[in-house]
Amino acid sequence: SIPVDNVQSLASKDLKHIPIRYVRSEIESEEVVTDESLQIPVIDISKLSIAEKHGYDDELAKLHVACRDWGFFQLINHGVYEHMDEMKKVTKEFFKLPLEEKMKYAHTPSTIEGYGQAFVVSEDQKLDWGDMLYLIHLPVDQRNMRFWPRNPTSFRTIFDEYSNELNGVSKKLFKFMSINLGIEPDAICKLYENCIQSIRMNYYPPCLEADKVLGLAPHSDATGLTLLVQVNEVQGLQIKKNSKWVPIRPIPGSIIVNIGDIMEITSNGEYRSIEHRVLVDLEKERLSIAAFHSPGLEAMIGPLAEVVKEKTAKYKTIGAEDYTRLIVSSKLDGKSLIEHMK
Ligand code: SIN
Ligand code: FE2
Repeated sequence: SIPVDNVQSLASKDLKHIPIRYVRSEIESEEVVTDESLQIPVIDISKLSIAEKHGYDDELAKLHVACRDWGFFQLINHGVYEHMDEMKKVTKEFFKLPLEEKMKYAHTPSTIEGYGQAFVVSEDQKLDWGDMLYLIHLPVDQRNMRFWPRNPTSFRTIFDEYSNELNGVSKKLFKFMSINLGIEPDAICKLYENCIQSIRMNYYPPCLEADKVLGLAPHSDATGLTLLVQVNEVQGLQIKKNSKWVPIRPIPGSIIVNIGDIMEITSNGEYRSIEHRVLVDLEKERLSIAAFHSPGLEAMIGPLAEVVKEKTAKYKTIGAEDYTRLIVSSKLDGKSLIEHMK
C-alpha cells in the first residue's frame, strides 16, 4: 500500500481545514436513522449453551434471525471480560505512545500488518480518519513478531491471551450457527480448523470537521466472522439497513459480532454480510478492536454442500489463496468482493 500521513499527528496540528483527501462529499446526502428503538439484536451466549442441551430454544432462533436479517448482533455474557479489559488498557496505552515509538512497528509498503494506514491503493483514493495497528495472531507460523509492540511491556502476553479467548468464542458461535443452518454442529468449525485470526486495533482521533470525514469508509468484511469491541464510550459505528445508516449503541462490555463475506458465501446467502462505516467525533478520540476470523489457507471458500443440498449454489467455490487475491483486485476495481464470487 501507499504510505500516507499519520492521522493522529495530523489531528494534533492546529489546522483551519482538514486536507481535501479526507473530505467525503457523499456523507451529507445519506440518511441516518434517528429512531432509537431500531437496534441490532442482543444475544446471550450463556442461554445458547443451555439451549443446546434442550434442542430448541428461543435464543437459538434469535441468533438465526440476527445472522439472517441483520448480519450484526451484540453478544453478552461471553465470559472474556477480564482479558477484554486488559486488552482495552494496553491498546489505549499503545496509541498514547509518542509517534516515533509507534513507528517502530510501522507497516512497510509491502505489508498490511503493523502500525499506520494500510489498504491505500491509489494516489487519489479518499483517506480514512484513523490509524490502526493490524496484527496476524493465527496461525502461529504466520505471525510477524516485528510488528508486535513491546511497549507497553505486557502488550504481547495480553494480546495473545485475549485473541485466544475470542477465537474460542468464534468456535462456539460457529457451532450454534451450524445447528441453526441444519447442518452437522461441527461443519463450520471444521472449515476454521486452521483459522486465520487477525486483529485490528483502531484509533480515530477527534476531527474539527467531523461531519465531513469517515473513520472507516463503507465496507463489508471480506473475512468470515468479526468480533468487535468498543474501547471507550465514544460511538461511531453505523450499519446499512434498508438503504439507511443505523447507529449502533453498544452495551458496555458486549462484543459486537458481524457476519463477513465468507460466512455469507458459506451459508449460501442465508446469512448476510452487511455494509458498515465509522463516523468520528468532534472532540473525543474513539478506539475499537476488531478480531477477524477466516478459514485456513488450505480451505475452499464456497457454499457448504450440506447447506446447498438440492438448491443452487449462489456463489463460486475457490481456494483461500485465490480468494485473498480477489480481496486485492476488488479493492482496485471497486466492485464488491461478493459480486466477484457470484
Ligand atoms: C470495523 O472494523 O469495520 C468497525 C471498527 C469500529 O467500529 O471502529
Ligand atoms: Fe468492518
